[in-house]
Amino acid sequence: MIEVQSISKHYQHGGKSIAALDNVSLQIASGEIYGIIGRSGAGKSTLIRCLNLLERPDSGHVSLHGEDITRLDERALQQRRQRIGMVFQHFNLLRSRTVAANVRFPLELAGGQSPAQMDARVDELLALVGLQDHKHKRPSQLSGGQKQRVGIARALANHPDLLLCDEATSALDPETTDAILALLADINRQLGLTIVLITHDMRVIRQLCDSVAVLDHGRVVEQGKVLDVFLAPQHAVTQSLLAETGMGQGALQGIWRQRVATPVIKLTFVGEPTLQPVLDKVGREVGLRVNLLSGTLSEIKDTPFGQLLAGVVASDVDVSALPAIFAREGVRCEVL
Ligand SMILES: Nc1ncnc2c1ncn2[C@@H]1O[C@H](COP(=O)(O)OP(=O)(O)O)[C@@H](O)[C@H]1O
Ligand SMILES: [Mg+2]
Repeated sequence: MIEVQSISKHYQHGGKSIAALDNVSLQIASGEIYGIIGRSGAGKSTLIRCLNLLERPDSGHVSLHGEDITRLDERALQQRRQRIGMVFQHFNLLRSRTVAANVRFPLELAGGQSPAQMDARVDELLALVGLQDHKHKRPSQLSGGQKQRVGIARALANHPDLLLCDEATSALDPETTDAILALLADINRQLGLTIVLITHDMRVIRQLCDSVAVLDHGRVVEQGKVLDVFLAPQHAVTQSLLAETGMGQGALQGIWRQRVATPVIKLTFVGEPTLQPVLDKVGREVGLRVNLLSGTLSEIKDTPFGQLLAGVVASDVDVSALPAIFAREGVRCEVL
């Protein structure tokens, strides 16, 4: 649905040129939730603003549904933008307007609908985000989570097929974040629209996204399916972002490397095997006894996964034979 081809963007600051984006390429499939993660200043906001050309790249192309939008004139571009919704970290609501009037605003801008049609659409949207009872309030009378629900309803007003979220949950507490992420997942499923979201928080990526790109100093340093990136992060930036949120295994690996004399295996379970007693079964079959060193059992979007580090205390077969034996049970085993 979206194809970004080698875009670059420089800003001039204090006589120096800063590369906010450096030769970035991405492909985003229709209907998926695509996360872009990176530290502050990595270029995330610049990149997401290039997807609707609020920011024009210096070079490269952006295509939507196969159409190169970097070639469109301003009027044609304006039309395309109506099919792209955007949600912001600080909500960007109009303070003097009620909740209903905020959601109505993009309908008024687009034109072509009667007041009654617009009111009906506003009600539909407020029901979708669970704000029917707050219709006549002003933004100042709402909590952060409610404000973001208004922001989401407004972004969906003109039936976009693409929703861009710039740190949509970064100003919210953890519980409210979960509720907003669940709402976005719901909208993605119900309406089938594509969502691109940027965040600095790996938990957001894990809970919501199908694919992810890791941005660092304006470059994409890693991208792929969230499961693959989480279970085998390749780049140092990805590894440290995971470690900070307690989802990496770097620190634990450091401890056992010094203290554990036995061979160590790393088992990775994805999906169904996570729910089976695989270690117990293989243990009985080949006399494998282990000393568990660390373990994670969690979910990536809707897929359960687990990762275990274990010292091999005893085994009837050679340790090097274990990967093939675990593979038969659908579990990846690496001898470290
Ligand atoms: N309008 C601007 N003028 C000058 N520099 C900018 C501008 N917008 C962003 N930058 C710079 O570009 C880099 C990337 O910024 P941004 O895309 O906002 O990063 P992120 O959203 O990942 O924090 C930063 O170094 C930032 O200072
Ligand atoms: Mg930003």
